[in-house]
Amino acid sequence: MFRAVNREGTYTTKYDDAKKKFGTDDLMPLWVADMDVASPLCVQETLAKRAAHPVYGYTVYPPRYYDAIQTWMKKRFDWSIEQGWIVPCYGVVPSMNFAIEAFSAAGDSIMIQSPIYPPFMSSVKHKERKVLDNTLVYKEGAYHIDFKDFEAKAKEAKLFLLCSPHNPSARSWNTDELEQMIALCRKHDVLIIADEIHADIVYDKLHHSVGSFSEMMQHCVILNAPSKTFNIAGLNTSYAIIPNEHLRKRYNVEQNKSGITNGNPFGIEALMSAYEEGDLWLETLKKHLKANVLYVQDFLKEQQIPITSLPVEATFLMWLDCSALGFTQDELKTFFFEKAKLGLNDGRSFGDAGLGFMRLNVGTSREVLEVAMSRLNKAWKELV
Ligand SMILES: Cc1ncc(COP(=O)(O)O)c(C=O)c1O
Repeated sequence: MFRAVNREGTYTTKYDDAKKKFGTDDLMPLWVADMDVASPLCVQETLAKRAAHPVYGYTVYPPRYYDAIQTWMKKRFDWSIEQGWIVPCYGVVPSMNFAIEAFSAAGDSIMIQSPIYPPFMSSVKHKERKVLDNTLVYKEGAYHIDFKDFEAKAKEAKLFLLCSPHNPSARSWNTDELEQMIALCRKHDVLIIADEIHADIVYDKLHHSVGSFSEMMQHCVILNAPSKTFNIAGLNTSYAIIPNEHLRKRYNVEQNKSGITNGNPFGIEALMSAYEEGDLWLETLKKHLKANVLYVQDFLKEQQIPITSLPVEATFLMWLDCSALGFTQDELKTFFFEKAKLGLNDGRSFGDAGLGFMRLNVGTSREVLEVAMSRLNKAWKELV
């Protein structure tokens, strides 16, 4: 059973920054994408052991680190990678920025698919590239790719920033969708930068890494990390997998320019331990998260609250279609933040395609969600 650990005193973004974000500290924060549950015991013990050693100096990535990633890719995604393809980094978003810098120039066009995790859009804009938005099509309660539009944009794009699985829609792309995107990117010579940070939390489906498709392997950069999976995002430990040597060299130039050299001793230990021993914990966690999703979906239906949860194929994030409430986005925020006292992510922060939506993080205990749902229900019942 996963309980919500009291995170007070640990300087968490989710709780300690809530006041800044929502303007009040009396709401229940269910926003930023980390979880309230404890990391696996193997990770806790490894970190305690490392912390007990009193020297925290510069640390290299040992062969065991590369072994752990290589083995994880094989056993979880059936992808055989070479250790030399792995480029350690301190975050997927920084890596995405290095990749944009390495493989495009100011003024180039870069394709994304909104609604999308905000740094996709902002990274492109900050680097003075042009955003080409292959906006996902919301139809019959689910998101689909408009392939005609995709091809039109691929003709112009230099890079495609793919989010797979996709945040916030919680879609795990089907093989045929991935194949079509890959074929069009190959046809129009578009490099794929695939953020696969949510790959480990996919329900009832298999995640296929873009890098594992033979046609794409030499034309992609895969970004991943154990941070979402094992709730260790604060350890800032991620990696890129770049099979193509030429691309890898270009990427390395950009990353090295930023001054990154060594790793974080705690992040390295946590990654090795989680990937080596965390399988069983992960399977149990997925069951817990899936049950949380079902609980929220059932609650909304039973209480006849006109909010539709989209199917959650991956992630611990629920994308809630609140359009039937009939509010403007500002009214929707007031309803959640001030009436229900729930701190969800404003759908609008994922782009205009997120209007009418809110994102709910269910990476917590059932008890927390029960309180959240009763607050939502009370706020709704007061309205009708
Ligand atoms: C799709 C996606 N990419 C990247 C990140 C953040 O990655 P990092 O902390 O490694 O930069 C998140 C966090 O929510 C995410 O959802």
